[in-house]
Amino acid sequence: MRKLLVTGGAGFIGSNFVHHVIDHTDDHVTVLDKLTYAGNLASLEGLPTDRFRFVQGDIADPRVVDELFADVDAVVHYAAESHNDNSLHDPRPFLDTNIIGTYTLLEAARRHGRRLHHISTDEVYGDLELDDPARFTETTPYNPSSPYSSTKAGSDLLVRAWVRSFGVQATISNCSNNYGPYQHVEKFIPRQITNVARGTRPKLYGAGENVRDWIHADDHSSAVLTILDRGAIGETYLIGADGEKSNKDVVELILTLMGRPADAYDHVTDRAGHDLRYAIDSTKLRTELGWAPRYPDFEAGLAATIEWYLSHEPWWAPAKDATEAFYAAKGQ
Ligand code: NAD
Ligand code: DAU
Repeated sequence: MRKLLVTGGAGFIGSNFVHHVIDHTDDHVTVLDKLTYAGNLASLEGLPTDRFRFVQGDIADPRVVDELFADVDAVVHYAAESHNDNSLHDPRPFLDTNIIGTYTLLEAARRHGRRLHHISTDEVYGDLELDDPARFTETTPYNPSSPYSSTKAGSDLLVRAWVRSFGVQATISNCSNNYGPYQHVEKFIPRQITNVARGTRPKLYGAGENVRDWIHADDHSSAVLTILDRGAIGETYLIGADGEKSNKDVVELILTLMGRPADAYDHVTDRAGHDLRYAIDSTKLRTELGWAPRYPDFEAGLAATIEWYLSHEPWWAPAKDATEAFYAAKGQ
């Protein structure tokens, strides 16, 4: 039995990972989460108390971090400010958590000699043209666009420096856009599903031609466990499931799956600096570590995600009004 510390485990992808670990291993999990607006303890309900515990705290607080690192075998670091639109409105928390928080964890990993896996994003590579045959690989130069992605890029570079300079036993993964249960209603797919559920028209930024490379959150979890188990120290692995779709196609599919006319949505003010296209080449992870996605059918995964939101309104309803008020103030 391994003891894992999962930072940000009350958020979307972190909570999916905790459920995945409990279901597929005999590991013990401690979650460290600050419970910002994005953290939700309801996402961790029902976990076995003999294998799971929750600690509320800030990853940028060396006292709490030090105490927890002393008692675990490995750390999986999900905690972050994660939403681009928020980073355009108020960048400061992104620096505090994504940069200083990651630095605090790296220093603890160094002091305690702990294995650390750092969760990052494909957004560190910037964006691609719609007709570019290229996809991101582990050697694509960093070129982040937003306050969010630049702080994630900065955190990745800190991890690389702590591996090389201090011998910290770390790996990094950069994943594409996740969808699935427990995602905050500020994000694209849950926002549109819950809009339709409430009788509101979905909101598409600009023309909606932007492309994202969708992966089910459970496939992200299995990839992270694979890297934790078999990844080479100091290496970066890109995680993706060949799920490129335009935002317009995704909105139209949501409307169709929910029994509405496919064109029943509004175009709204575009995001400043909006990245055009992300695309992941995950050949290294697949060939070197033998990983493959288990949910490659996006339409089936989206239908299951819609069902999850329709049957979990008490989970998402408390955040919906404040989220829509934030967007409405920006004409989105
Ligand atoms: P999220 O916003 O849903 O969850 C973030 C969690 O971190 C929340 O529970 C929050 O309370 C916690 N947190 C924030 N600041 C903290 C702090 N200072 N100390 C402790 N906890 C803190 O985010 P998500 O979408 O689940 O993303 C998780 C990670 O995965 C992030 O590192 C993100 O960059 C990365 N990622 C996300 C995606 C995606 O599609 N959402 C894709 C690739 C990578
Ligand atoms: O690529 C990985 C990244 O994916 C992660 O690093 C981020 O943490 C995660 O939030 C996500 O970033 P995006 O900015 O791509 O996700 P978001 O859900 O905010 O938006 C997806 C696309 O949909 C993007 O092109 C903007 C557009 N959009 C978004 C919202 C909220 C709309 O058209 N309408 C909307 O209402």
